[in-house]
Amino acid sequence: MNTELMEIKNGTLFYDGCDLTQLAAEFGTPVYVYSQNVIKSRIKELKEAFTDDHPKNRIAYACKAFCCTAMFKLLQYEGLCADVVSGGELYTAIKAGFPAERLEFNGNNKSRGELELAVEYGIGRIIIDSLQELSMLEEICAAKEKKMKVLYRITPGVKADTHDYIITGKKDSKFGIPLDDDIILPYVKAALDSRYVEFLGLHFHIGSQLFENDGYIAATGEALKLAEKIYTEYGFWIKELNLGGGFGVTYTTEERKPFSFFLDPVRETIEAFAMEYGLEMPALVIEPGRSVVAEAGITLYKIGSTKDIPGLRNYAAVDGGMTENIRPALYGAKYTAIVASKADAPADKTVTICGKCCESGDIIIKDIELPELKTGDTLAVLSTGAYGYTMASNYNRNPIPGVLFIDNGIAEWAVKPQTYENMTANDVIPKSFLEVKNG
Ligand SMILES: Cc1ncc(COP(=O)(O)O)c(C=O)c1O
Repeated sequence: MNTELMEIKNGTLFYDGCDLTQLAAEFGTPVYVYSQNVIKSRIKELKEAFTDDHPKNRIAYACKAFCCTAMFKLLQYEGLCADVVSGGELYTAIKAGFPAERLEFNGNNKSRGELELAVEYGIGRIIIDSLQELSMLEEICAAKEKKMKVLYRITPGVKADTHDYIITGKKDSKFGIPLDDDIILPYVKAALDSRYVEFLGLHFHIGSQLFENDGYIAATGEALKLAEKIYTEYGFWIKELNLGGGFGVTYTTEERKPFSFFLDPVRETIEAFAMEYGLEMPALVIEPGRSVVAEAGITLYKIGSTKDIPGLRNYAAVDGGMTENIRPALYGAKYTAIVASKADAPADKTVTICGKCCESGDIIIKDIELPELKTGDTLAVLSTGAYGYTMASNYNRNPIPGVLFIDNGIAEWAVKPQTYENMTANDVIPKSFLEVKNG
């Protein structure tokens, strides 16, 4: 359990200087709460491990983990780059005033409209993911008289030790271009010959929530093999290698590994390779998402109904559920929680925290030891900062909760809670309905 910046005062849980029970009362629940200090401390650790001593390298935060205007501002102040995967994320970045040249665009099926937007904004890099994407991008660049920097996302064909739904680097994947010579090499040649793109190098992302470094090392080996072939065939040595994200975080009992555990051996492998061939060290890029924000975020709930089924299970229902945290239902993700309103009471009851949605799978935490829960208690579910808010839905027409940024006892909205009015604003009654009624 990650309890960084948490303390118990007078029986209640404080986080980054804020009394969580009071926050819940003042701002309502459910609500996502992010400590800016925890986010900044992760960014500092990443810089220490990757860019401080290697200024050519870049950290491109994967904003799919958590995205909003304020987050882009924070990234901008911290001097990071960002990885976007949709027109919506791209638009949010630009709206926040984030420098376009510091954006990279990933995604396995970017639409023409999204690519047009990226070219118009003049973003830094497009990570090409499919054989059709290059031609589409070239057409757009020709029409707009622009040239874009590109990398190719490859599927290195390595197995990462994580949940099947978040493995992305194996050969049978919807992401990336396979490494078969007859597929990838002509495609690289097309980019090298193109007037409209500048080919910089390769990208891979092997999966998420990783605690071992062997997958990274193996994938780097595959990328270097391809880079060598490109060099031998076309005389071009890659200028950039993007290693993706995926560094594991603490949700419950996992022990987060230092970033250097993943990054040092990879850098050393590439350095040794470059030195052996007398080639320049390429710039390295990483795309951490969850490791920047997961542990910084908690979700506050109020306990509503409780039910003890003798000899079977005890349930306590929160005022949200799979709508603001789909991960347990989607891939069995595990979380832990603290009863913020009685943080020092003994954890003497086993309870299952369920949501209020109309699905039996709407369980946030199965069988956790907590103090006896009563209606009105405030529950803090920890490490919910990644892929919670960004995956939230309006299922059952529950509004999406707001996001609070907290910092040394000060709490402010970064995203206001959705209202019923917001939620129904785009609903339209088809004209034909009225005609039927009038007729
Ligand atoms: C291409 C790419 N980069 C980076 C990430 C971020 O991964 P994580 O949040 O596990 O660091 C992902 C996650 O899906 C991804 O697909």
